[in-house]
This record gives sequence, structure tokens and C-alpha cells, in this order.
Amino acid sequence: SIGYVNGRFVDLNEPVIPIDERGHQFGDGVYEVIRVYNKKPFMLREHLERLQTSAEAIKLKLDQTLEQYEQLIKEAIEKSALTDCDVYLQITRGVAVRNHLFPDVSVSTTMTVRPAKQLPHHLRENGVSAIFHDDERWANCYIKSLNLLPNILAKQTAHEKGSYEAILVRDEYVTEGSSSNVFIVKNGTIYTTPLSKHILSGITRMAVKSIIETEGLTLVEEKFTKEDVLESDEVFITSTTSEILPIVTVDGQKIGTGKPGEIATTLYQKFQEKIA
Ligand code: PDD
Repeated sequence: SIGYVNGRFVDLNEPVIPIDERGHQFGDGVYEVIRVYNKKPFMLREHLERLQTSAEAIKLKLDQTLEQYEQLIKEAIEKSALTDCDVYLQITRGVAVRNHLFPDVSVSTTMTVRPAKQLPHHLRENGVSAIFHDDERWANCYIKSLNLLPNILAKQTAHEKGSYEAILVRDEYVTEGSSSNVFIVKNGTIYTTPLSKHILSGITRMAVKSIIETEGLTLVEEKFTKEDVLESDEVFITSTTSEILPIVTVDGQKIGTGKPGEIATTLYQKFQEKIA
């Protein structure tokens, strides 16, 4: 494992963040989580493009080009000596005496590279449970911002109820998971929430979309309700760390047979081929 702070690689235990860092005082920054398979960062370009979108949306001027971030991330992976790892990259508006107005200082860039979080085998084999939770977030969830309080509260509530994920519902419709995108399957057709300001444009969602296309399956990007979820044949979530993960119960109610479905299983197999 290795850390990186503003131009230097550090030990992860080294205390490096000044008190007046806007990342922790205001959550004034953006981030990416990138999965590395066999030393190769998966869909790195797409992650960096989303980082750029997020930064522009909060009027944060990145001080490096996407090519420079690419080099930096690859260097960090090399230095970590890890083959399968998670890269966390965070850019904030920098260090300045606390004041809501933007300071005229350089941004802070930090990164950690750690062994990939492995999901216990039985969860992948048997699927996981989820709960519904009100989507209490703001209007700009397409920005991958550091402000994750509603997300962590929803995830913690799910955990305390013995569930893996909270499926967020806004104005009667499912938006996404607390840290994932949500798909459902009904009569062989796959549905997922359309992109809007209310959800993050997931990189894994993008990868799954392309697998669905090459497999000749049908994807409909259309809003769906809690009832649609409960009446579906399959539910699965996608994210960098969970990849493609079947949801077999929601709020204690069985989805389909209560076992991982055929489509989620096929998509996961194809995903494995894609990352190999
Ligand atoms: N979370 N929606 C939200 C709210 C997320 O936080 C994430 C990812 C996703 C899936 O995006 P992707 O496929 O690009 O990982 C959707 C990351 C992994 C995290 O915060 O740890």
C-alpha cells in the first residue's frame, strides 16, 4: 500500500493533512475510486473524464491534465507493488483559513493505493439483501463530491438491518444505491435508472451497458418504482468495488426465486472476461 500527497509518496500512516484543509472542513472536493486488475487500472480514462466533469461542476480548477493523472496513478500502482488494488484519488480546493469563499491557493491532491477489497465468496454466490431508503441527498448527485453524509447514513442503516446496500428512492422512483447503481430484470428485459443530475454516471454501469449490448440483451433506461423492484425477476447493483452483485431480498421480500438470477450471473461472467 502507498499514499500520495501533493507531489510526494508517503507511508499511509504518516500524518499529512493540515487542519485548515477544505476537504475535511467543507467536503469541498471531488474523488474517484478506481479498481486495478492485474496492475491495470480498469476504465481509467472514463474515471478521469468523470473527475473532470465533477471538478468543473464545483468550479474546481484541476492543476494537472488527465494524461498527468494517468501517469501519476500508474506510478503509484508501480510503487505500491500491488497487482489487484483500489486507487482512491481526491482533489480538494486546498488549504486556507476557514472561509466559505473560494481561496486563491493550489488544490490538494491525495491518493491511496490499497489491496482490493474482496467481497466474501458467499455474498457473491448467494446474493445480498438491500433495504429501501429515502434519497435525502441534494440535487447534484452526478457530481462525485466528498459530501457523502446521506450516503453513509443510508448505508449504515442498511448494515444495522443486516443488509448490504440501501436502494435510494426519490419522489417514488429508485435513483441508485448509496454507493452503487441499480438494475432490475423483468421478463428478460433489463432496466436501469436513466442518467440525470440525480444519479452518478457509474463506470461499472457503463461497462455493463456495453456487455448487455454485445450480448444482444435489451436494456431500457427508464425510471422504476419500489413496486417494480419487488415484482422484478432479478435485481443487481454495480460499482467499482462490488462489480456486479445480485440483490436477492429487499426490505425482507424475496426477489424472484430469492437466488442470484441468470442474467446477473451471465453479465458477471462476461465482466470477468472483460477485466482478465
Ligand atoms: N462508489 N452511485 C454512487 C452514489 C456511488 O458512490 C458509486 C460508486 C456508484 C457506482 O459508480 P462506479 O461504477 O463508477 O464505481 C454509483 C464508489 C465505489 C465509492 O464511493 O466507494
